[in-house]
Amino acid sequence: MIDLDGRTALVTGAARGIGRATAVALAAAGARVLASDLARPVEGLTYDTAAPDDLDQTVRQITDAGGQALAARADVRDVDALRQATADAVARFGGLDLVVANAGIASWPQSTWQATEEQWQTMLDVTLTGTWNTCRATIPALLDGGRGGSIVIVSSSAGLKPLPTIGHYSAAKAGLVGLMRSLALELAPERIRVNTVHPGGTTTEMTTNPAAEAWEATAPGVGETLGLPLSDVRMEPLDIAYAIRWLCSEEARFVTGTTQLIDAGALLR
Ligand SMILES: NC(=O)c1ccc[n+]([C@@H]2O[C@H](COP(=O)([O-])OP(=O)(O)OC[C@H]3O[C@@H](n4cnc5c(N)ncnc54)[C@H](O)[C@@H]3O)[C@@H](O)[C@H]2O)c1
Repeated sequence: MIDLDGRTALVTGAARGIGRATAVALAAAGARVLASDLARPVEGLTYDTAAPDDLDQTVRQITDAGGQALAARADVRDVDALRQATADAVARFGGLDLVVANAGIASWPQSTWQATEEQWQTMLDVTLTGTWNTCRATIPALLDGGRGGSIVIVSSSAGLKPLPTIGHYSAAKAGLVGLMRSLALELAPERIRVNTVHPGGTTTEMTTNPAAEAWEATAPGVGETLGLPLSDVRMEPLDIAYAIRWLCSEEARFVTGTTQLIDAGALLR
């Protein structure tokens, strides 16, 4: 049984989907959770990101079950806001041990080379730079604790295999692997482990909105690439949260620098 009692976690993109499931799963194992999200729309997207109520709901779900949680409104593009969220976690819970860099967005250009400058730049700003921001805002607190720690970066199966038309997403998610490997090497002497998880298709508002469904139905080659050999239904956020929670736990104490696939076999095709 995974025990995170006495540990504090910061989770970005925690207002819903995989981030919320992770925050709730970490808390169920005893961790205190700083749930962070921008909780407003991201400019230029064709679906809604989370709202303030969603973030409150994550915190309520944890506290109603007897856990401890705090919310922070922070855009991962704003490193100062992440530093403030980190400071809030340390002030309230006495330290920081676990970081889950999960916040992410989707957009669906007609093709990779026809993506607009805005689609390209916003993707890199949120997904790649936002994750670097999350790491550089939180690592000082992990080091201060002197107890080691675990950073889990949420990439995607699309960071390891091509998906038609969304090369900007694949490029950002593949970039996270390079970031993770460098950090894993640099932080190993401090017993801070760093890993990426690579979900395949998972049922969240990122994948079930009309723009995502239109892309899946019409973009050439997408349907067969997204198929999950192990399952005819999409995975659920908890399927990913359990893998993240394991990487956060002592059960994974020698696991660092790895790319953890949770994709129901999607990469086999
Ligand atoms: N759902 C899938 O099939 C799938 C597959 C592979 C990888 N992922 C990755 O999993 C992660 C979570 O996605 P999800 O499926 O739960 O989607 P989601 O849209 O339900 O959740 C993403 C969360 O991130 C938040 N967010 C977006 N931009 C932000 C920003 N700039 N700053 C802070 N928070 C921000 C949103 O408000 C939202 O709460 C993402 O990194 C996504 O790329 C998802």
